[in-house]
Amino acid sequence: MADRLFHPIAAGAPRPLRFEFDGAEITARPHDTVLAAVLAAQASCGASEFDGGARAGFCLMGSCQECTMWDEAGHRLRGCMTEAKDGLRLRSRPFDGAV
Ligand code: FES
Repeated sequence: MADRLFHPIAAGAPRPLRFEFDGAEITARPHDTVLAAVLAAQASCGASEFDGGARAGFCLMGSCQECTMWDEAGHRLRGCMTEAKDGLRLRSRPFDGAV
């Protein structure tokens, strides 16, 4: 499996934003979606609750839910529709462990 899924065209450009996803520090450019930033850093954005297979988004336009993430407040987010911001703390599963 690849070490990451997305390879930004402007790979040398600064990535000044930092947020946390499943405990890992992720860097992003302004206006990146959190899904794009996560997949530029690693090969998946979580595991399927059905078979444990890697999830990495599918539609990239807010329809499929394959990029579902949770914030600390318990909000369920679509990673492909959420802009990266400094200091976000996100998980591929709810913070309290419930699904
Ligand atoms: S990738 Fe389909 S909703 Fe985000």
